[in-house]
Amino acid sequence: MSILVTGGAGYIGSHVVRLLQEKGHRVTVIDNLSSGYSGRIGAAKLVELDLAAEAATATLVELIKSESITSVIHLAARKQVGESVTKPEWYFEQNIGGMAHLLEAMRQTKVDKLVFSSSAATYGMPDTDFVNEDFECKPINPYGQTKLIGEWMTANAARAWGLRAVNLRYFNVAGAGWPELADTATMNLVPIVFAALDAGKSPVVFGTDYDTADGTCVRDYVHVLDLAEAHVTSLDYLDRDTRDHSTFNVGTGKGASVFEVLAEIKRVTKIDFEIDLQPRRPGDPPYLCADVSRIKGHLGWTAKRDLAEIIESAWSARQASS
Ligand code: WQD
Repeated sequence: MSILVTGGAGYIGSHVVRLLQEKGHRVTVIDNLSSGYSGRIGAAKLVELDLAAEAATATLVELIKSESITSVIHLAARKQVGESVTKPEWYFEQNIGGMAHLLEAMRQTKVDKLVFSSSAATYGMPDTDFVNEDFECKPINPYGQTKLIGEWMTANAARAWGLRAVNLRYFNVAGAGWPELADTATMNLVPIVFAALDAGKSPVVFGTDYDTADGTCVRDYVHVLDLAEAHVTSLDYLDRDTRDHSTFNVGTGKGASVFEVLAEIKRVTKIDFEIDLQPRRPGDPPYLCADVSRIKGHLGWTAKRDLAEIIESAWSARQASS
């Protein structure tokens, strides 16, 4: 197949690109390189483009035709929760506007298969530990709102012109499938802790008074390579004429607390670091883990890698890139 991957030069996107290349697919990457690196995508054709730009739809139509694109995997988006709270209009312009241009270009060129990168942030602060996809979505920040609206947009396109879509709700992604594809941003717990250790500082824990086993927040950490494999599996699912669902959680179905992640980092790095205990961070649900029965039952996908492999791969990739 000839597949267009938006955001393919990013941490997660480059893992998807690499897997598709290994399976023999032709891959074209669109990325604005605001946080991605062209060196991550190998021989894939790279088109530097801001999907939210006025002329993006026309550029996309030409590209889809010239590369004979058959399917699209859409990961390009702004994804910093804190930034989305301070710049909500920009987040809507970037994430919703960019997606509208992409869907319009797909409609015009009759490309009808899309895998959309959604998020557990669509759930907001659920009052249950393991959420399933039927749980009512109440996102609590503009980033999560843009992901939920993105899911609505795929449903509208399915109804209006027959788009076949899978929305993948990512839980907490970490690890590295290849050392050169490490998460070099410091926007999430594991890379933030690594950066603190590299700087000789104590990692910070936001809140130890939650109603959880050890008082720290619990999340579902999923290996980025498992996540990438879920995208490839989703493309196969879109070839089926009967599909009972379009939205799937992508996680392990197991929770790990912040303290448990830090303990794993101590084991892997062999650094017995001090921990800086701080008050809660606003907007953090105590528990946010995935019920993964739907993706297992309908796509046959389950995560193969555990927290140990996540931390080991992330640490060795960081060592390799430093
Ligand atoms: C994890 C836990 C923090 C840093 C975000 C997005 C979500 C999804 C996953 C994209 C929390 C705690 C963190 C630190 C800490 N991304 N923490 N000290 O907030 O669960 O979810 O990433 O789809 O949409 O919102 O991830 O890695 O920021 O935090 O104690 O220095 O670690 O409080 O409990 P989060 P995170």
